[in-house]
Amino acid sequence: MKKVITVIPGDGIGKEVVEGALHVLNAVAKKFGHTFEYKHALAGGAALDATGIPLPEETLSLARASDAVLLGAVGGPKWDVNPQHLKPERALLGLRKELGLYANIRPAKIYSALVDASSLKKEIVDGVDIIVVRELTGGLYFGKPSGFETRNGEQVGFNTMIYSESEVRRIAVSAFEIARKRKKRLCSVDKANVLETSQLWRKIVLEVARQYPDIELSHMYVDNCSMQLIRNPKQFDVIVTENLFGDILSDEAAMLTGSIGMLASASLGGTVAMYEPVHGSAPDIAGQNKANPIATIASVAMMLKYSFDLGAEADAIELAIETVLSKGYRTGDIYTEGMTLLGTKEMTEKIIAFI
Ligand code: IPM
Ligand code: MG
Repeated sequence: MKKVITVIPGDGIGKEVVEGALHVLNAVAKKFGHTFEYKHALAGGAALDATGIPLPEETLSLARASDAVLLGAVGGPKWDVNPQHLKPERALLGLRKELGLYANIRPAKIYSALVDASSLKKEIVDGVDIIVVRELTGGLYFGKPSGFETRNGEQVGFNTMIYSESEVRRIAVSAFEIARKRKKRLCSVDKANVLETSQLWRKIVLEVARQYPDIELSHMYVDNCSMQLIRNPKQFDVIVTENLFGDILSDEAAMLTGSIGMLASASLGGTVAMYEPVHGSAPDIAGQNKANPIATIASVAMMLKYSFDLGAEADAIELAIETVLSKGYRTGDIYTEGMTLLGTKEMTEKIIAFI
């Protein structure tokens, strides 16, 4: 199989972890007889420095013309002072919106070798296997109007939380479909006791549910969900929620697994899907060979599975990650006493060795 992948390393540790993931892809290509062609593109701070804008048109057209997009991370203190439209994060939001990637799939599955790395008790987290399906192109992130104004002699900042029926319906369908392939349990998270957007959300989710009588649907308020994720995470299988709630809950779910450095994500819904680690650009450890490449490596496994239908290849990567962890190899973020501490490059090499 021959596939073209747009590669956007971005900023901070993005460059290192993406480099690692490409080495892993090359190893898979060699072992299984595929050809992956990489087209490197700029986004975020790297694009701002080179071109003056966070998301150059060239990056978008490369992405549109490819079979999948791999993104590292964007952002860093250097650009934090920039005005809104010149912040690196705009690149990520622009890619999501322009590519129509409304369904963000964030699995939080604990690796059994890592139960001790979680900040929660072993019996709480052992066996956790959750997928957060986050709506990615609507809600507060994109609602208009938004901005700054002066009202009654003082500055105000404002955003609009808005969802249309069709936006809710399509993400609900994605979540029900995912639930159907798993334990057939879906929890829709909202704030319907307060917000109109959430009341509409709940109504449409209930409507869609009629097409999925085999799925056990529950509803939970977002504040309760954030508490339940810590109290008893094993009650969840698939969670579906709107953009901002999903941003927050997916970080929380990620941390159940010990480190946000382990978690992969897929953004689907358009003609080309994008894959990225859930963690950010971590400027504090950038360029020091300290970053955990596993989230990005697991993201390319998701790419192989979801975009290229290469299940065996994806399994080979996941098995290699599990093997490396069970043999006690750790990056700093998941290190516990008695384990072997590795850098980004060494961790990548170990995973490749087991592929
Ligand atoms: C994420 C990130 C982004 C988001 C930021 C960097 C714009 O936190 O992917 O979760 O809020 O969606
Ligand atoms: Mg986030």
